[in-house]
Formats: sequence, C-alpha cells, structure tokens
Amino acid sequence: MVIKMDKTHKLLLLSGDGIGPEVMAEAEKVIELLEKNTDISFSIQHGLLGGCAYDQTGSPYPPETKQMAHEADAILLTAIGGPMWENAPFNKRPEQGLLDIRADLNLFANLRPARVFDCLLDASSLKNDLIKGLDILIIRELIGGIYFGEPRGIENLPDGKKRGFNTASYHTDEVTRIAKVAFAAAKRRKKQLCSIDKANVLESSIVWREVVTEMAKNEPNVTTIHMYADNAAMQLASNPAQFDVILAPNLAGDILSDLAAAITGSIGLLPSASLSEITENGTAKGLYEPVHGSAPDIAGKEQANPLATILSLAMLLENSLDRKDLAQVIEDAVSATLNDGFRTPDIARSREKTITTSQMGDEVIKRLQISLSGKRKAG
Ligand code: IPM
Ligand code: MG
Repeated sequence: MVIKMDKTHKLLLLSGDGIGPEVMAEAEKVIELLEKNTDISFSIQHGLLGGCAYDQTGSPYPPETKQMAHEADAILLTAIGGPMWENAPFNKRPEQGLLDIRADLNLFANLRPARVFDCLLDASSLKNDLIKGLDILIIRELIGGIYFGEPRGIENLPDGKKRGFNTASYHTDEVTRIAKVAFAAAKRRKKQLCSIDKANVLESSIVWREVVTEMAKNEPNVTTIHMYADNAAMQLASNPAQFDVILAPNLAGDILSDLAAAITGSIGLLPSASLSEITENGTAKGLYEPVHGSAPDIAGKEQANPLATILSLAMLLENSLDRKDLAQVIEDAVSATLNDGFRTPDIARSREKTITTSQMGDEVIKRLQISLSGKRKAG
C-alpha cells in the first residue's frame, strides 16, 4: 500500500493550441504514475488558455481559467497560438492570454535553462566543441519593461497615417526582485552572472544597470558582469560557454532565450518556469511551459516531442511543490530515454529511426516505473 504523506497539490493543466493537447497527454501519464507510485497526490483541473479559449469563450484568458489559476499551487501549460488567430482582434490574440496570465499571477521571474544533451550534440548548428556541456540559465524579467509599459497605443494622425508607440520602463523595485532571483540562482550554480541591458541607449537600462551594480556589491561570491544586449547575442552565437546565469530585461530576454535555445539544437527539450514571489516555505507559485511553440503544422500528427513538457513538469515539482527528488527522477528518465536512442522527428538525424509523441512518452514512463518501484513506500 502507498502511504499518502504529502498534502494534495492543486494543479491546473492548460493544454493550449496546436500540438498542446498531444504533448500534455504525455505529461499527464507521468502525473498519474507519480500519484500511483509515490507519496505525492494531486487534484487536477483543466482549463482553457490561448486560441482555444478565445474560440470557446471569446477571451484568451477567460474568467473560469483565471479563477482556477488563482486557486492552483502550480500550472502546467503547453503552447498557445497559430495562424488561425492572426486576424483576431489585437487584445484577444492567444498571445494576449499568455501575457494576461503572467501579469495577473505576478509571474515576474522567467527561468529558461538552455542545456545541451551530450547525445544530441550534432543537432546544434554550432560546432560540437563550442557547445559540449553547455548549461546556461536565462532569467528574464517577465511582467515589466516595454511589454507592459504605459503609455502605449496606435495613434491615428490627421494626415491619415499612424504612429505606434510603446514605453520601456523599469522601476528600482522591479529590477531588485528579479536580480535577487538571478543572484540566488548564480550562487547555486557556477557563481557567474551576466546582466544584460542597453545602458548606452535607454534610460530604463541605466536604472537596471545601477540596481544590479549596487546589489552585486553585496554578492562577493558571484562574479557579476554587464553586457549590452546586441553584444550578448554575438557572444552567445560565437562563444556560449562563457555564460552561466544571464539576467535580462523582458524584450532582450525574449530574444536571447530563443537564440540560446536554438544553439542547443534541441528546442523540443527545453522547459521553462515563470515564478511569482518565493513564499516562506521556499516555493513559488508558477506557470511551467515548454520553450517551443504550438507547431500548428504538425498538430494532430503525433510527431511532436513531449519531452519539454515532461521536463516542465519536473521544474514544477521542484520549484512550486518542493519535490526536487521527483524532479530528478523525471530528468533522469528523460536523459536515459535519449541516451537509449529514442528520437521524435525534431531531434532525429537523417535516416535515424523516429517514434511518435505517445511512444516517446511511454519510453519515459517505462524508465520512471523502474526507478520509482525502488522508491515505493512500504505500507
Ligand atoms: C515567449 C513568447 C511570448 C513572449 C509570446 C507568445 C507572447 O515569445 O514566451 O517567449 O513574447 O513573451
Ligand atoms: Mg519568445
């Protein structure tokens, strides 16, 4: 008998658009297995976010989802968006749903690890020796900067032309809270922090750099450097191994995290976390999602890679539920599956045999079952 020791964790699953439901189904297999074979227990709700939500309710972040999101301990999302919503009103696009849930839940800290799996070295466009062992953590500020600054809008001018405008702004407190997360992460890792800005051009970046510089004085164990965003892009593409933790404002973090993901060659494997303030017990409410998009071109074809969503679930267990032990078991099962040669089309080399989305999920499950059977509590 399995003894239930842990409290019941409220999870909200948002399957989103495109390949979302297919990859979520594989993460759900993992959730079920954990419930059956460990002391953890979940209460699961399903909700709508993105294009599917807009189609069914007229809003990309409907009130029902909002309520469930507030009640949940953690949220697992797959991906949202697709060409069918390109002509939806600007404030109803699937992307708006994502921006709204981030702001609504105060998810200011976006963690995007970019790691290279040894057995997939050849999938990168960069030479092997540049990326072997690569392990970068991008920490992106997620609910400030030019994405949310006011005023913003599109002005109709008397001559019939238009002017679109946005505001890039950062307040001391916004920089302080995200920099804290970055220093804490650097201390757990290789103790190197690279803070990104455009302090040569933007006032919001001058404040950003001043705050990080001040905080760095109290962090003698972390080597902190500052880098302009354009230079950081060049450095990432030419010598990525110089980076450990990268701290970036919202827009720069958006761009650099795609670049970092691309150079690993395995975007189908990369998870992410968007976290709110850390609570007394050391966990934070969070939204977890793969870095890849909704891939509408392969939706429903069972070709998508479910591993990034499964690894996002691992991040959820570690960061929101304080279960690093279970996160580790999942990460090990994913690594073992890859080392044993199983490939979905996105990570296969030409002529390598590929398997489907659900077969990939099943391979992970097999390996998880073996390691969890050793951990099962006797009762
Ligand atoms: C991301 C995405 C989003 C962003 C979009 C979908 C709103 O690109 O999470 O990186 O720009 O933040
Ligand atoms: Mg992006």
